Amino acid sequence: MEKFRIQGGRRLHGEVGVSGSKNAALPCLAATLLASAPVILRGLPRVRDIVTMERVLETLGESCAHSEGATTVVAGSGDAYHAPYELVRTMRASVLVLGPLLARRRRARVALPGGCAIGARPIDFHLQALAQLGADLRVESGDVVAEASGGLRGGEVSFPRITVTGTENLLMAATLARGRTVLHNCAREPEVEDLANLLLAMGARITGVGTDTLEVEGTEELSGADHLVIPDRIEAGTYVIAAVLAGDGVRVSGCRPDHLSALLAALREAGCAFSTDADAVVVPAQRGPLRAVSITTTEHPGFATDLQAQFLALMTQAHGASSVTEAIFENRFQHVLELKRLGAAVEVEGSTAHVHGPAALDGTTVMASDLRASAALVLAGLVARGETLVDRIYHLDRGYEAMEVKLNALGATVERFNPGRYL
Ligand code: EPU
Repeated sequence: MEKFRIQGGRRLHGEVGVSGSKNAALPCLAATLLASAPVILRGLPRVRDIVTMERVLETLGESCAHSEGATTVVAGSGDAYHAPYELVRTMRASVLVLGPLLARRRRARVALPGGCAIGARPIDFHLQALAQLGADLRVESGDVVAEASGGLRGGEVSFPRITVTGTENLLMAATLARGRTVLHNCAREPEVEDLANLLLAMGARITGVGTDTLEVEGTEELSGADHLVIPDRIEAGTYVIAAVLAGDGVRVSGCRPDHLSALLAALREAGCAFSTDADAVVVPAQRGPLRAVSITTTEHPGFATDLQAQFLALMTQAHGASSVTEAIFENRFQHVLELKRLGAAVEVEGSTAHVHGPAALDGTTVMASDLRASAALVLAGLVARGETLVDRIYHLDRGYEAMEVKLNALGATVERFNPGRYL
């Protein structure tokens, strides 16, 4: 299993470019199942989850061709509709094919994703909402089997709780449903908006983009499109935090600072001086101590749960006591025990982690448990004394493109060992 060996204490300096958004690219890839002509997607990050989604699409008869910076997805002639467990179990977001398959092929069989390191993560809201658009659903041998033999019909759906991929699944399903669909209590994450923009380019009729109420007038057919996915705000936020922790002047470029407003507000409160351009966050060498700041994760535009672990790693170096409350997932503190192995002073009480800083971190071996927890451990390794080994970095490779290459270009010393195929 591949590991990172990190030499702590190196200062970061220079510019790091942000890749395309994994969580925008995944629904955009699933949306190609709705199109009757090739869809060109630009800026997809080269990460494991994208490869997995392309495999899911290939299982469903599509072909994905890559040329410089662009992926062209072409629908096959078949009507395959089964996303098997071997693929779904490695990536929950495979469930995003459910809505498009039902809408266009009128049936779908998608393995139920099992448990997850960060919480139970059921898909009941996706299923209830699809039933409201006329789908017949049942669970058979661990698979969701869904049918809409006469096609989906528009309807009114109110999500009991905000769900990102649930909103995306329903938005895609509604584009080819008969009549009008109104989706209430939708996620407003930038990734949902990016998907809506792709669907609009394909000819879908959607209003309310960027709000919590999406209205869709179904159409008979969607065309191809050429779409550039948004930059990855979580990758950008991770490098901004790295720059605050260990930087001597870092420019995080090719990002959307407006997608990072909650993180930037917390950093400002912590006393961090930074500036923003239209597409970059510039973090100067940190002068003066970093102050402890408390945050609670919430849906966008609140503080992203996907930056919680990295922010917690930063707070281990801030002066004072902070609390980090996780309100989206019930079990997303697996990084805490590993950070404590490095010497961090953190106690978890229910859904809140209490952090006391600054703590001197000492390099040791730590284990990555999920994608964002892994990023937090790498960040801690950058400021730990001596050598930190981060084990199981396959979690990182799911969502960060060439993280060690980008960090090393800034002056870090991060070595991947047992190097195998990168993807
Ligand atoms: N939930 C339900 N039932 C449902 C759907 C969601 O109870 O049918 C609950 C979840 O268990 C969770 C909450 O609602 O407690 C919100 O979950 P949501 O559905 O919004 O999460 P998701 O769509 O499965 C996406 C991202 C996650 C990110 C969350 C929250 C993708 C592919 N994944 O997951 O990204 O943490 O939204 O912002 O977009 C990551 O990239 O590391 C990652 C985990």
